[in-house]
Amino acid sequence: MKNIILVLVIMISTTATSIAKDTLVIAHRGASGYIPEHTIAAKAMAYAMGVDYIEQDVVMTKDDHLVVLHDHYLDRVTDVQEKYPERLREDGRYYVIDFTLAEIRTLAVSERYRLDRRGNKIPVFEDRFPLDKSTFKVHTLAEEIELIQGLNKSTGGDIGIYPEAKSPAFHLEAGKDLSRAILQTLKDYGYDSKDAKAYYQTFEIEELKRVHEEVLPALEMNVKLVQLMGGGGDYYSDLITAEGLEELSKYADGIGPSMGMIIPNDAEAGALKMSGLVANAQAVGMEVHPYTFRQESFATPPYAKSYEDLLEIFVNQVGVDGVFTDFPDRTMKFLGR
Ligand code: G3P
Ligand code: CA
Repeated sequence: MKNIILVLVIMISTTATSIAKDTLVIAHRGASGYIPEHTIAAKAMAYAMGVDYIEQDVVMTKDDHLVVLHDHYLDRVTDVQEKYPERLREDGRYYVIDFTLAEIRTLAVSERYRLDRRGNKIPVFEDRFPLDKSTFKVHTLAEEIELIQGLNKSTGGDIGIYPEAKSPAFHLEAGKDLSRAILQTLKDYGYDSKDAKAYYQTFEIEELKRVHEEVLPALEMNVKLVQLMGGGGDYYSDLITAEGLEELSKYADGIGPSMGMIIPNDAEAGALKMSGLVANAQAVGMEVHPYTFRQESFATPPYAKSYEDLLEIFVNQVGVDGVFTDFPDRTMKFLGR
């Protein structure tokens, strides 16, 4: 019975249905298809596209400041190698927790890159913003919230925030309670109930439980909670059964699965099958916000003819409640908004 949800498959109709305009558009790391991820410029651009939520991945510095970066390393989106070569750890990485906020503010942020064998920077997305142009910096969670709240005031908008605690167990081991610091910041800025325009998200199962059972009560606040899931292995295998999802729904408001957990990446166009994950999660009252919708052909599953076809499948046929996207404008246009 344990893995029944993975065995259960439901054929998806290939007939187009009406467009679900109320599907939430979540700007994944900002308008990151156009400007380097998690920069203030990417967040402002996403805001101007009229999305529902803007995502923040959050990690902590040596001196306990919250900064908006995709993970707890600095070496794939900054020039840390050039500025602080002596800070390299034995595993070949540069860790955010080895740097103060003042030091991190000296770094230049660029498009995401990988290093080739000679140490040259190769952009992960070659058609996106050039690696070495313009000037971008790392900012704090509070600074980003102030940008979004400031724009809400000046435009009359009501765009929400969607922070993710990145590697909270790693931070706890280093004596830093990342989730508590994020949630305290949310409370400081008025996001303190389920009605607030904010979701807290994390991939770590035990951490989401701890947030629900200990951190939120200690801070005398509440906020919508999302359990992220993805990757290989069997870490989520108990959680994604119908029974596991029912248990999860007692404290989580939604799930954020990879697209592949809903429709296998090797599915055939015209004969799509999906797992029971969406139906089972929605049946117990949880929202489903899959990731990550990207227009690049190598990032689009082979069963989808185009970015819009991918949206058509997930929004109209599967019926997800929201999407994390690097291309908010194309998603808004698809939804007719
Ligand atoms: O948080 C949803 C989505 O962003 C998860 O993937 O790796 O981009 O944080 P990642
Ligand atoms: Ca994320």
